[in-house]
Amino acid sequence: MYAKASLSMTALAAIFACAFAKDSRTFAVNHFYGNGALSMGRMDPIMNPGAPSTHSHAIQGGSNFNLTMTDDALLYSNCTSSLVDADKSNYWTPSLYFQHSNGSFLSVPMFYMNVYYFFEATDDEIKPFPVGLRMFVGNASLRTPPQGGAANVLDTNEGPIQPVQWTCPRTSYDIPSYPQDSDGMHGVGIQDPNNAGAGAGFPHMNCDGYASPLRADIHFPSCYNPEAGIQDYKTNMVFPSSKGTTGGKANCPPGWIHVPHIFYEVYWNTPLFEGMWTEGTGSQPFILSNGDRTGYSLHGDFISGWDEEVLQKIIDNCDTGDSGMDKCSDAGFLNDASTTCNIQNLVPEKIDGVLEKLPGNNPPTGWGQELETAKQRVKRHFRGHVHGRHV
Ligand SMILES: *[C@@H]1O[C@H](CO)[C@@H](O)[C@H](O)[C@H]1NC(C)=O
Ligand SMILES: *[C@@H]1O[C@H](CO)[C@@H](O)[C@H](O)[C@H]1NC(C)=O
Ligand SMILES: *[C@@H]1O[C@H](CO)[C@@H](O)[C@H](O)[C@H]1NC(C)=O
Ligand SMILES: *[C@@H]1O[C@H](CO)[C@@H](O)[C@H](O)[C@H]1NC(C)=O
Repeated sequence: MYAKASLSMTALAAIFACAFAKDSRTFAVNHFYGNGALSMGRMDPIMNPGAPSTHSHAIQGGSNFNLTMTDDALLYSNCTSSLVDADKSNYWTPSLYFQHSNGSFLSVPMFYMNVYYFFEATDDEIKPFPVGLRMFVGNASLRTPPQGGAANVLDTNEGPIQPVQWTCPRTSYDIPSYPQDSDGMHGVGIQDPNNAGAGAGFPHMNCDGYASPLRADIHFPSCYNPEAGIQDYKTNMVFPSSKGTTGGKANCPPGWIHVPHIFYEVYWNTPLFEGMWTEGTGSQPFILSNGDRTGYSLHGDFISGWDEEVLQKIIDNCDTGDSGMDKCSDAGFLNDASTTCNIQNLVPEKIDGVLEKLPGNNPPTGWGQELETAKQRVKRHFRGHVHGRHV
């Protein structure tokens, strides 16, 4: 009797596992609309709540984005820059500047942003993001190449996670975007060994692909730990693991919730600066808003403002790929792409055009810049000292 009962329980568990199992990836791209990003400025309610953030960001999504945010504030947004109205989430990344040879910083306009929603092969059931979930990925302090190399690693079974890259779409890669012997420490990044179009750190060629300038690529983890909670962005997420699975599936740790794998693509209009620098010389002029000349510190932030019921339907039924989540029959109300949803920069200051300092006064760092600045300081100090002594 007991044996029989336990057998049927096992069978039941197997049936449930089968019901959840997903053998291959499906996906849908979340498209934005309107005039530029939702907003740009030194705003970051995750890293610097209630105060101006250290550096400027480009922000998309729900209009209730603010310096301080309660867990469900986004749901009551008046509008969202996502075409799918049920998505009031916020998505943000550092913005990009061009440093002219005369030292001035020129803002690089954001071209557009996409967020891929990947529903990956797994034995888990993929669930929607809980409202108010905060995620952060990348490391804003990094100025050195990723320890595991330039290729993305998005599976904890495959080595140290490498979630960010730069993609430089070009008409030809006959001249590579990165010098082949680059160690990533001297003025230019390192090419992805599996993809001539991408790499870790900034490339030293102009990205002239049709309608595809320099692109920031940011992958988020997809396993959420409900015990850590939606607020604890430092510990609440990990990447899934293929350990012990078959068929390329990746699963979350027991007790964790498998959510969609989101991937930001942020295109910056770098070809506007084409005539202002010389490509292929082992250095390059673009700089992240936090002062990073290398590009290694690329990072992304997310707060969920999804209608969970709509997102669950999208997870279960949408596979429209690049044509967009807005083409899914379950996406609900769509915003009118001829309108726009924007909010003011809540830290009013000049962030566009020609600047003598990056917003927040972040000095350029990386690829020897700290050293140069230190040398100049020593030189100035020495000159002052000598001057003082002899006059
Ligand atoms: C943002 O926060 C400020 C200060 O708490 C508040 O006055 C304002 O209404 C908020 N904006 C939105 C869109 O919620
Ligand atoms: C949202 O709409 C309400 C009512 O129309 C309005 O009072 C409020 O100012 C709007 N908030 C924003 C951030 O536009
Ligand atoms: C540097 O050059 C840019 C582009 O010509 C110009 O707008 C800016 O004013 C210059 N900065 C200085 C300090 O001369
Ligand atoms: C981020 O990078 C810095 C500089 O390499 C390093 O000291 C720090 O431990 C990293 N932070 C995390 C959370 O890995």
